[in-house]
Amino acid sequence: MSKQHDLAASQSDVNEYDEDAVLNPSANPHFEDILAARLSRRVALKGGISTTAAALLGGSLLSACGSDDDSTPAPAPAPAPAPAALKIGFTAVAKNKNDLVTVPEGYNVSILHALGDPMHFGDESWKDDGSEAADSYNRRIGDGHDGMYWFGMSDAGAFDAKRSDRGLLAVNHEYVVAPYGLHPAGRAAGATRNATEVEKEIYAHGVSVVEVKRDGANTTMVRGSRYNRRVTSATTMDITGPAKGHLLLQTLFSPTGVQTRGTNNNCANGYTPWGTYLTCEENYLNVISRAAGDDALRAGGAKEVSSLNRYGLPQNRKSPYLWDTAGTADLFARWNSSVTGASAVADYRNTINTFGWVVEIDPFAPDSTPAKRTALGRFNHEGAWPAEAVAGKPIVIYMGDDSRNEYIYKFVSKANWDAADIGKGMAAGAKYLDEGTLYVAKFNADGTGTWVELSFGKNGLDGTNATYAFADQGDVLINARLAGDVVGATKMDRPEWGAVHPTNGEVYMTLTNNSNRVANTATPTGSQLKPDAANPRYYEDLKGASSQKGNPNGHIIRWKEDAADVTKMTWDVYLFGAQADAAADINLSSLTDVNDFSSPDGLYFDKRGMLWIQTDDGAYTDVTNCMMLAALPGKVGDGGVATAAGGTQTRAGAKASADTLRRFLVGPKECEITGIAMTPDHKTLFFNVQHPGEETTPDWAAKTFGSYWPANQADPTVKKRPRSATVVITRKDGGEIGI
Ligand code: FEO
Ligand code: CA
Ligand code: CA
Ligand code: CA
Repeated sequence: MSKQHDLAASQSDVNEYDEDAVLNPSANPHFEDILAARLSRRVALKGGISTTAAALLGGSLLSACGSDDDSTPAPAPAPAPAPAALKIGFTAVAKNKNDLVTVPEGYNVSILHALGDPMHFGDESWKDDGSEAADSYNRRIGDGHDGMYWFGMSDAGAFDAKRSDRGLLAVNHEYVVAPYGLHPAGRAAGATRNATEVEKEIYAHGVSVVEVKRDGANTTMVRGSRYNRRVTSATTMDITGPAKGHLLLQTLFSPTGVQTRGTNNNCANGYTPWGTYLTCEENYLNVISRAAGDDALRAGGAKEVSSLNRYGLPQNRKSPYLWDTAGTADLFARWNSSVTGASAVADYRNTINTFGWVVEIDPFAPDSTPAKRTALGRFNHEGAWPAEAVAGKPIVIYMGDDSRNEYIYKFVSKANWDAADIGKGMAAGAKYLDEGTLYVAKFNADGTGTWVELSFGKNGLDGTNATYAFADQGDVLINARLAGDVVGATKMDRPEWGAVHPTNGEVYMTLTNNSNRVANTATPTGSQLKPDAANPRYYEDLKGASSQKGNPNGHIIRWKEDAADVTKMTWDVYLFGAQADAAADINLSSLTDVNDFSSPDGLYFDKRGMLWIQTDDGAYTDVTNCMMLAALPGKVGDGGVATAAGGTQTRAGAKASADTLRRFLVGPKECEITGIAMTPDHKTLFFNVQHPGEETTPDWAAKTFGSYWPANQADPTVKKRPRSATVVITRKDGGEIGI
């Protein structure tokens, strides 16, 4: 979801939840403090500051070994060697503002499905007038296409990771996007919503699973397949893992706290080696309200209120979507997370705690109940990216919390991987995802990193904690952000997608941007942060109309896990987003016209080791629509020490070149490019266009919109409502994508 839109401004008096909102007020140590601490220690050790300061400038502070040997020379910058057999083989697509998906010469574009398309027979096709019945969205493609995954399927209907011509494509439907084209004439104005619109929106969120078939050159959705399924904001789900049954999860719907309904604002995703889909709940505050005066009614007192505030739900907060105002029926009332009854089992005060989880869905069992896997913690989950599963070793999943100043996490299962569990669906999920250890990342200034365990009774996470007295492990997981605060995790520039390199296991994560960084010389106020080594940028993007301050163009961090110690890693910044004509200390990766980009978001490694980078940008959109690039990254440590604009030292990866980074496509107007999946033969690539035309207020009667995509992709004269959609890319010669 892009950050700059103000989608309802012209139609109602509320704005969409801003994922850019600063919610982390904790006073964790920042780079300056780490630096100061380290300086004072070294001064004590060596009896003078000048050696230390010289060493800092020489870069040993940031050396990966973490040694105290100040004589370690800075590693020399070197070009990243591309894997020998793999080469980017297409001509770069030029930046553009066309209202089209623009791909390289030799590639085909087709649309797999778009908002409102019927998945089954019996419902009419999209009519482009918003007349579809609300209930039909239980059988139609939802809105706001986002993360997705391809599950190859055998003739017998089982998970087959090698199958490319038949599969199930699971797609997240993050939110109902502007300009609300699923309603007849946009969203009706007013302080309360009407039931028909809200019911439609509840069913248009969530996940779709559809069968997909390749027949010669055509890849299409199999309408009417028995696997086609919608999971919505009303679907019954199990709550599993350590927080199952917790007092903080009890509701009128599930007085024992073992179930809830709906998954919401599903942003990015993950998948498991046993063949299930992980969908991640991000901006659920879009739809959850809390009443004025509610603080005083909370039985948990100041502690409970601090949790609600830390998760962005202060009292007297109306949700942007106002679902709770559509009527007294349970379908609507449950979105009011306020004390209205005698106890938690008589109302929905705990609705907030039932969102912010990783949800597992078995796409091969359409009747199975999805599960909220609480062992993976509660926060604004962007996605959940597994490391390659290794027999006899734990399952490892990386996750980020996409808000300014939030954290990066890692889950390590208790059970060790056994390939005999492939195809065992939710039972395998219970085995690997309900028991394990959650860690949060600290990126140390010396280029090392630490994973700090978030387990009750360790690292200060217990009842004696001054900021939040944790009651048990369920409490730690429900309040993972507060646990991260306590252990001093590193506040990041909005973690978006992650991806694990298929052969060397290094982990990449986009940090999309952060307007809340201030200059090294400034005195931060409120939740403002100075740059640190892992989030090193402060500058003003002076290029074009959409200029922003802080880290407007984003970067991609990566790390290498320590082979012997699960709590240790080393990191560098693989790539810095920038305009090609930016100053050298902004354009730290030496991007040029063939590969410059801003605000990386989606990220995906294909099995060959080609990395795909997608953008959700508001800083370079004066020049180009959002895009997707192909990359051949090197590895942690292939660059050297660099000083970012604003003066903060960091570890930068090798500079990019046209051989290692190239623009593959540009999307239509006012969209975000997000979600990516590829068949295992690398011959079909799927990606999503989300919210085309979101920034322009439509004239519904005249049918003028900010974008006419996807209807205009095949014929530019066709003018219909813009819709989020899944796009299929193939090569005209039938070859592998990208090479
Ligand atoms: Fe839904 Fe963090 O983007
Ligand atoms: Ca984004
Ligand atoms: Ca995103
Ligand atoms: Ca700009």
